[in-house]
Amino acid sequence: MKIDVLTIFPEFFDAVFDFGIIRRAKLAEIVEINVHDIREYATDKHKMVDDRPFGGGDGMVLKPEPIFAAIENLVGTSDRDAYPDGTRVVLLTPQGRQFKQAVGQEFADEAKHIVMICGRYEGVDERVNDTLVTDEMSIGDYVLSGGEPAAIVIVDSIVRLLPNALGSDTSAENDSFSDGLLDCPHYTRPADFRGMTVPEVLLNGNHAEIEKWRFSKALEKTRAIRPDLIIDTNGESER
Ligand code: ADE
Repeated sequence: MKIDVLTIFPEFFDAVFDFGIIRRAKLAEIVEINVHDIREYATDKHKMVDDRPFGGGDGMVLKPEPIFAAIENLVGTSDRDAYPDGTRVVLLTPQGRQFKQAVGQEFADEAKHIVMICGRYEGVDERVNDTLVTDEMSIGDYVLSGGEPAAIVIVDSIVRLLPNALGSDTSAENDSFSDGLLDCPHYTRPADFRGMTVPEVLLNGNHAEIEKWRFSKALEKTRAIRPDLIIDTNGESER
C-alpha cells in the first residue's frame, strides 16, 4: 500500500512513522509513506496556500490550486472518476464520516493508494471536497487544530491491519473492536503484585476456559463502558 500525506506542516510527522509496527511495515515494504508540503505545489511567488473566506468571517481557507496540483501529481488526474482502482483521497475534517475499526479494515482490504489531505484553519475550499475527495473523514466529535493528528491515527490504524504488518496473524483479530467489543483485560508476571493477584483462570492453562473468560470480560466491559457497541437481537443498539 502507498500512503501520501498532504500537509502544510510536514515536520509535524517527523519521526511518528518511524517507530514500532509502522516502521517495521515500511522496512518490510508492506507500506510506503510519503509526507508532502502543500506549499511546494503553490505556484504564485509568495507560495500562498490559504486565503480569506469569500463572504467574510474569521480565519483562512486552504486554497484549491496547490491541492489540485498535488493530487494531479500524486494520482495522475484530478478527475475523481478517472482515479486508478484502489485510490482513496481522504480529507480530514470534523465534518467527515466517523472513522472506525470497520472503516480501517475496509481501507486495509481495498485501498492500494491513499492520499490524506490534512485540513487546517477555518477549512478547505469546498471545491476540493466536491471534486477530488473520495472520503471526508473525522476521527471523532471534537475539533483539532488541523487534520494532522487525525491522519496519524488513521494511518496507524490501517497499517496494523495490512497482511503481515503484525508479528502474528492473530493479534489484529484480537484487538478491541475487531469483534465489535472492547478488549478483555490482560496480565503479565508477577502473578501476585503487592497482593493484587491475576485471575486464577489465566494461570491454569485451560485454553477453552481462558477464551470463555476473555469473551465474558470483554462483554462485561463493553456493556459497562460502551453499551452503544452492543447490538440486541432486533439489530438495535442497546442505547
Ligand atoms: N480536523 C479537525 N478536527 C478533526 C477531527 N475531529 N477529525 C479529523 N480531522 C479533523
